[in-house]
Amino acid sequence: MNILILGNGGREHTFAHKIVQSKHCDTLFVAPGNAGTHTIATNVNIGVTDFDAIKKLVLDEDIDMVVVGPEAPLVEGVFDFFKADGALKNVKVIGPSKRGALLEGSKERAKEFMAMHNIPTAAYEAFTAKSLEAGKKFLETLTAPYVLKADGLAAGKGVLILDDLATAKNELEDMLTNQKFGAASETVVIEEFLDGIELSVFVLTDGKSHVTLPTAKDYKRIGEGDKGLNTGGMGAVSPVPFADAEFMKKIEERIVIPTVDGIRKEEIEYKGFIFIGLIKVGDDPYVIEYNVRMGDPETEVVLPRIKNDLVELFEKVSAEKLEDTQLDVDTQAAATVMLVSGGYPESYEKGKVVTGLGEVRGSTVFHAGTTVDGDNVVTSGGRVMAVTSLADDFKKALETSYGNIEKITFDKMNYRKDIGFDL
Ligand code: AMP
Ligand code: GLY
Repeated sequence: MNILILGNGGREHTFAHKIVQSKHCDTLFVAPGNAGTHTIATNVNIGVTDFDAIKKLVLDEDIDMVVVGPEAPLVEGVFDFFKADGALKNVKVIGPSKRGALLEGSKERAKEFMAMHNIPTAAYEAFTAKSLEAGKKFLETLTAPYVLKADGLAAGKGVLILDDLATAKNELEDMLTNQKFGAASETVVIEEFLDGIELSVFVLTDGKSHVTLPTAKDYKRIGEGDKGLNTGGMGAVSPVPFADAEFMKKIEERIVIPTVDGIRKEEIEYKGFIFIGLIKVGDDPYVIEYNVRMGDPETEVVLPRIKNDLVELFEKVSAEKLEDTQLDVDTQAAATVMLVSGGYPESYEKGKVVTGLGEVRGSTVFHAGTTVDGDNVVTSGGRVMAVTSLADDFKKALETSYGNIEKITFDKMNYRKDIGFDL
């Protein structure tokens, strides 16, 4: 069949890398894609939320399956757009419906869902401009640090963790009355701070059954020791060593099963990934957030460990036949290191020529912010590429990635040298 992936990051290059290996894939398209997907698929320069252009492409190229990478088209209802269109309704869309995507699109909705289905998470209350004073009073009942979350999508910037009460009150006011994060902060969730170590669990569901994919941990800050500004993610490892069988059992019983049951009971159409951000407090898992897609760079360590044919898994998801599916997971660990443009996550230059990719041995390079310029691969984003390796443990995998990174160059290249430092 012909397949289309929406997106242009390392996540989408990893999907593409796996999908072209499937015997069920005839032609693969990526919109808009990057220099990495260009070498294995056909890139089409269409925006991920340009539904009319996507429709035209799907009809022109006889596309049977659409795999949605990022959250924006899901939150804007790409799944529902396909189901409501007579010419598109039989196309298999991998991703949740708009109602399902609200689990990421609205933090308040996600918290209500968790409360409704008894899923452990931080205590919270939600406020709007009208209830600003009540929000300030609520902050007074909490102890530092204070966690403020813009309700809507804010490109990963909408969460503030503040040490002092006066600052927290000011920021709350800025979010609610000055729309610090635009419409995304018309509602703000204030929640209890949870102190622990984070990890992520990924679930593939058809809305009734599920398979739990390998765990991963990403490193979000730009600086070593997890200091400095937040980024989209600077590296990741899978599996997470502290997520042993006993802890995974708690995650499955207390979080994954109730989440999928909740989706089923609420009759939400959901044929895609759930990315559950977790925090381990003492010996217990709590949900920090839901995302309705795979993570980036977590995908770059999770998918390379899955031996199943990904298109077969997606077909089962689409047909609601995921029940009894067994995942075949590589026992090797995976690690990835993200190479970024100097200056990122603040301003940075683009158009830098990347060299050395042909010399990489024993790692896979997943492109993110790259484009093709004549015969060259040039940078076109902050996160440029992720260098993934597999080995007996994540430390050995990292050694291979770091060894290969020595061979890759572009002007002002930056990366973290301490991925996995806390494990
Ligand atoms: P989110 O966008 O909800 O994932 O939040 C971004 C980051 O803020 C998370 O990855 C955590 O590191 C942190 N965070 C969010 N909520 C909490 C909380 N309740 N307690 C402690 N840290 C949190
Ligand atoms: N790496 C975090 C995310 O994809 O949201």
